[in-house]
Amino acid sequence: PGDRPLAGKTAIVTSGPTHEPIDPVRYIANRSSGRQGHAIAAALARLGAEVTLVSGPVTIPDPQGVSTVHVERAEEMRDAVVSRLPADIAVMVAAVADWRVASSAGHKIKKQPGEAPPPLQLAENPDILKTVGHHENRPRIVVGFAAETQDVVANGSSKLERKGADMIVANDVSPETGVMGGTRNRVKIISGGGVDEWPDLDKDEVAERLAALIAQKLVG
Ligand code: C5P
Repeated sequence: PGDRPLAGKTAIVTSGPTHEPIDPVRYIANRSSGRQGHAIAAALARLGAEVTLVSGPVTIPDPQGVSTVHVERAEEMRDAVVSRLPADIAVMVAAVADWRVASSAGHKIKKQPGEAPPPLQLAENPDILKTVGHHENRPRIVVGFAAETQDVVANGSSKLERKGADMIVANDVSPETGVMGGTRNRVKIISGGGVDEWPDLDKDEVAERLAALIAQKLVG
């Protein structure tokens, strides 16, 4: 209680991108610095939670007070998350690649002079948030993110429903916002209760507020 309301609670946070290999030297990925997810993991830990951060490849350091697991592909991230259930809290912030390369090559694909580029056959990746949101060991609080460039609230609300989340943190990542790769974020919190618009904040402050909100929902 007091300043550590999440003492005794466990949390799983995903952060960063996933890298989906094409061959041993090439991959496809979403853009993500991991800044927001890492900040949320640290903020939950400061409130007393025992936090596991499952991070895709990022260049920022592991946060303090958190147990960090490093993964590369979406399937690895899913396995790392699901194997750590049950938990009290899940916050899925990672920018998971929607598709992986259906059969990635075990050797470097060679560029052949005069030949057409090789086709890339894609397969759908598991949706980790949706898996957690509908899992038999579903955490009491499941939070997702929605990085959108259009119809932020409408897309966030439909995601809430579809993925079985309690809360969607929606942000506009249009290039002119500078959110992508930057240190600041302007989010809308979408839940069954409606939409709450937060002001432009540092990603650390967004994390702080979100952790406090989660603590309030979980332990009152
Ligand atoms: O990509 P999308 O907009 O659907 O992401 C919304 C939420 O779902 C985010 O919280 C993201 O971390 C999560 N997600 C996931 N696994 C995926 C795709 C998205 O956990 N394969």
